[in-house]
Amino acid sequence: MKTIIPTLPSRYINCTAFDAGGMSTIFKCMDSFLERDVIIKILQPGSAPKRILAEINALQQIRSKHVVQIFERLQLPNGDIAIIEEFIDGKTLNNQIPEEHYFKIIYQLAAALHEIHEHEIIHRDIKPDNFKIDNEGVLKVFDFGLAKSTMDAKTIGFNGTFVFAAPELYSDKTVSFTKKIDVYAFGITCIYFLLGEKEFFNRIKSFTMPPFKLDFSFSEKNFLSISNPELCTLLARSISKNPDERPEMEEIFNELRKKLIFGKHRGIMVNGTNSYVLDQVGKRITLSYRDLGSCKMFYDGNDFYIEEPIGEIYVNATHIKSTFKIPSSCLITIGSDQRSSSERAFVPFDSANPEVVL
Ligand SMILES: Nc1ncnc2c1ncn2[C@@H]1O[C@H](COP(=O)(O)OP(=O)(O)O)[C@@H](O)[C@H]1O
Ligand SMILES: [Mg+2]
Repeated sequence: MKTIIPTLPSRYINCTAFDAGGMSTIFKCMDSFLERDVIIKILQPGSAPKRILAEINALQQIRSKHVVQIFERLQLPNGDIAIIEEFIDGKTLNNQIPEEHYFKIIYQLAAALHEIHEHEIIHRDIKPDNFKIDNEGVLKVFDFGLAKSTMDAKTIGFNGTFVFAAPELYSDKTVSFTKKIDVYAFGITCIYFLLGEKEFFNRIKSFTMPPFKLDFSFSEKNFLSISNPELCTLLARSISKNPDERPEMEEIFNELRKKLIFGKHRGIMVNGTNSYVLDQVGKRITLSYRDLGSCKMFYDGNDFYIEEPIGEIYVNATHIKSTFKIPSSCLITIGSDQRSSSERAFVPFDSANPEVVL
């Protein structure tokens, strides 16, 4: 069947049918005012209009590098509502992610969901078809047609996508759900990528009746993330049957971020006219002043510590007597405040918080 291009305001030119999902048709046009490509999303006949309204409502609230941006809402001459949104110039990942990229892709999916959840929105349809990686390597989530506010998180009958939907959703009664259904879908989506599409579907025991059992173990050979036990633990917790046992997206995001910036901090101390840089994991720098006090500064790849403090070592005016994790910006003083300023050494410490490079 040929897709009929809807009548659109004249600023949108060169429109072509671009793609379709289960509920919508997607057109790609050129916005001749702003000279950029855009996507126009319209519901297919028979789909409930509340889907497009849910999508508009969610996208208007979220501003994130990892969520598709909405530009405009249009009422078409036939009464249909259309969404004009950012064109994501990239592809859907429908197979195994190359090993060198998988960690950053999983991290970005976690970042997207963490931000969506911070806006008290539940996406409800996280699966590989509903995000793309653009040409700069940035992951963007779209398709908020099932999105709900956490204040209104109830459903009657099953909505979503089998296999990626959390077990608590398989019911024909009214079900209340939480952000944890997205955590479950995130876990299954990651496993899909780690196994590859074909292998993933081979491992599902029952297609017709939930619960869908995935026949795999995190410790098996050839499972890509075997090299990363922390990720395996997070994913295993994400797909717990009991939603309370699943971590929040915030925890997953923070853990993955920590791994990606491991060893990339730079601690800088200034002692008089000398400055010292601490940026090597496991390295120690000794800090001392006259016979007033001494300690070692240590970097473990995530944080900076004062170790073996002897004598009058203070951090932001607190006397340090044992190993101490120092804040990212602080003043280390050698010599107590009972002494005059000229007798003491003041060592400002600063550590830059590294960005994840995508
Ligand atoms: N903003 C976009 N940029 C590029 N491709 C898109 C965009 N939005 C949707 N698509 C493509 O169109 C398909 C269907 O869109 P989607 O929003 O998922 O609709 P549905 O609700 O019908 O699943 C997507 O799987 C994707 O390939
Ligand atoms: Mg979709």
